[in-house]
Amino acid sequence: MIELAPSILSADFARLGEQVRAACEGGGSVIHVDIMDGHFVPNLTIGPPVVKSLRKVTELPLDCHLMIENPDEFIPAFAEAGADWISVHQEVCRHLNRTIYLIKSYDCLAGVVINPATPIETLTEVLDIVDYVLVMSVNPGFGGQKFIPSTLHKMRRLAEIRNQRRLTYRIEVDGGVAPDTVTDVVRAGAEILVAGNAVFGKGDPKKNVEALLKAATEAALAKV
Ligand code: DX5
Ligand code: ZN
Repeated sequence: MIELAPSILSADFARLGEQVRAACEGGGSVIHVDIMDGHFVPNLTIGPPVVKSLRKVTELPLDCHLMIENPDEFIPAFAEAGADWISVHQEVCRHLNRTIYLIKSYDCLAGVVINPATPIETLTEVLDIVDYVLVMSVNPGFGGQKFIPSTLHKMRRLAEIRNQRRLTYRIEVDGGVAPDTVTDVVRAGAEILVAGNAVFGKGDPKKNVEALLKAATEAALAKV
């Protein structure tokens, strides 16, 4: 099943509740929340208090994408604030297996993320314990960047490996997902599509989500 996960990074933070509701009315089914620490990525965003506030305005799963150096230290606070899904970057986890089980110990779905330059082979030993794999299709840090097409093969390969190894993780894509790239990511095997700028950048978030979901669903139907 294809799901659209609006990323609030490009939303108007002064009207966050209203913008989340609009994206949800358009069919967004997961709210993607980008957490940045100014170390792992060259930008700063939000912390657990905003997750706690979001929890009050939506019942949709909150997908917290941690772009931070020391995720183990903050996973408890995000889980307690109301995160449902928590993903961590392979590049910062020295003990990835431990971190994944830490996320699960809070009854959250656990995801692992790879940057455009990180090969999927680095995930071989954790694919059987994660709930989702997030393939970055831009270098993390900012919304509104250009999609990097060379990341598509990783989505394809993750779908193949899942079949071969009979695993169940879902495949998420994040970065530059827009009307002109949505077909390619769905064809490659992505099922959870994060979109920030294409949803909140201009126009009506509800209509933008509807248009993206329509294109994604058509691409998925054409695949089978
Ligand atoms: C980038 C973030 C993304 C970002 C995507 O570092 O992880 O979630 O919001 O934004 P767009 O869809 O604008 O590329
Ligand atoms: Zn993200």
